[in-house]
Amino acid sequence: MKLPPSLKTPAWLQMLHWIANPFTFLDSCAQAYGDCFCVRIGINFAPIVVVSNPITLQQIYTANPEQIDAPGEKNKLLGIAQGGENALVLASGVRHQCQRQLIMPSFHGERIRNYGQLIENITEQAICQWKIGKRFLVQDAMKTISLRIILSTVFGLEIDKPRYQQMEKLLISMLEMMSSSWQASMLFFPILQQDLGALSPWGRFRRCQKEIDRLLYAEIQERRNDPDLSRTDVLTSLIAARYETGEQMTDVELRDELVNLLIAGHETTATTLTWALYWIHKLPTVRKKLVQEINSLENQSDKSAILQLPYLNAVCSETLRMYPVGVVTFPRVVNSPLQLMDYYFPAGTDIYPCPYLTHQREDLYPEPKQFKPERFLERKFSPYEYLPFGGGSRRCIGMAFALFEMKVILAKILSRFQLALDNHHPVRPIRRTLLTGPSDVWLVPRSECKQISEKLNIDNLVITN
Ligand code: HEM
Repeated sequence: MKLPPSLKTPAWLQMLHWIANPFTFLDSCAQAYGDCFCVRIGINFAPIVVVSNPITLQQIYTANPEQIDAPGEKNKLLGIAQGGENALVLASGVRHQCQRQLIMPSFHGERIRNYGQLIENITEQAICQWKIGKRFLVQDAMKTISLRIILSTVFGLEIDKPRYQQMEKLLISMLEMMSSSWQASMLFFPILQQDLGALSPWGRFRRCQKEIDRLLYAEIQERRNDPDLSRTDVLTSLIAARYETGEQMTDVELRDELVNLLIAGHETTATTLTWALYWIHKLPTVRKKLVQEINSLENQSDKSAILQLPYLNAVCSETLRMYPVGVVTFPRVVNSPLQLMDYYFPAGTDIYPCPYLTHQREDLYPEPKQFKPERFLERKFSPYEYLPFGGGSRRCIGMAFALFEMKVILAKILSRFQLALDNHHPVRPIRRTLLTGPSDVWLVPRSECKQISEKLNIDNLVITN
């Protein structure tokens, strides 16, 4: 039996193309080799099989771990970015399962809906700074909102406290350092990870991480010394949580988990929101339908009703389909030889499930390069046909939270402002460190939606947790 076909170009060229433009790289591979092929884009040019066939993805995600596993050590790049080894994303096997069980309750059902008012307040506080006629960079605005939401709901920091402000500044610097292609190369090539003092890129990055750790450990210590169980943030739940053995999480584990949640949840959500706002304002019919739907709500602050809006849901789904921020998910590893499709996968093969290419399949999504939310109203897709949050044992733990957050933020923005695109250059999908996203998107507020802003009594807005 044959191995999946391999890309013929030199490994270094594949890696450069992958780093510079993952979309054209994957499109050209799929055109030449179909929905299963081997490329050399792993750490140190290691070969990896990219899979986008839904039936094969189902086999991969439902295989038992003796056959195909998702070991945490394969997510080393994230570990380097986060500077800690105990996070969920780096855990494997039983430890991974236990950690997921500990964290999951914080991101489900009622717990998430409790964050609704806080999310709306943070959004309102950020967007009320927007000036009519003054254009703004959507990425920056969405990052500010999503960072504040994570710092409040996950870290439980209070927005008006000095520690919050210090933390926000440091995190912005750290996340900025990670967001250029050049900085991304530091993660892909270990040789570039040299601390040559505070002015060297890696040295600066590490110093920033240390300062963030100092603040985080101080926060954890205070919470342990003076527990307040009425708080609803994730850190409070994690401090109170116990493993099956009765043990609690150590300070280092808590720190690593918080930074993991921040890195996994901040830019992903901000970038998806940026894409959503781009499509909504690029396509007037989409905007019109969405605004009509939001305005049809009897109570605009009813977050459960916002969550159920069908067209808003379809717009979010289509946004995540077109250019999922993770073009591939975390790697899976073959533990015992097996056959998938017509190919032989020896033990030790690394596999990248590829949501981007699955979402580009003509047989599932006719005219895949067109933004058409209606496709999500017309049919349901299986978890192997539509997988912007990955799948199986490592499926995104923040999925429900991210979708809720996106919907509340979009509903808020659209009911508050009439915005228009104000781009001098066409918007295209590009790499942003380990993720992807749009090139700069600019919007300009044309006017306020008066009716709504009067109802809100914005001057008296208080941020509460
Ligand atoms: C639109 C927003 C988001 C997208 C598109 C997204 C996407 C993903 C993807 C593709 C994975 C990998 C799944 C796999 O390998 O099968 C993942 C994992 C993960 N995500 Fe998200 N994510 C988002 C938001 C969030 C948020 C808000 C949080 C938490 C605050 C979060 C926390 C995590 C964690 C902890 C993992 C690792 C899970 C594990 O290793 O078991 N994500 N996410």
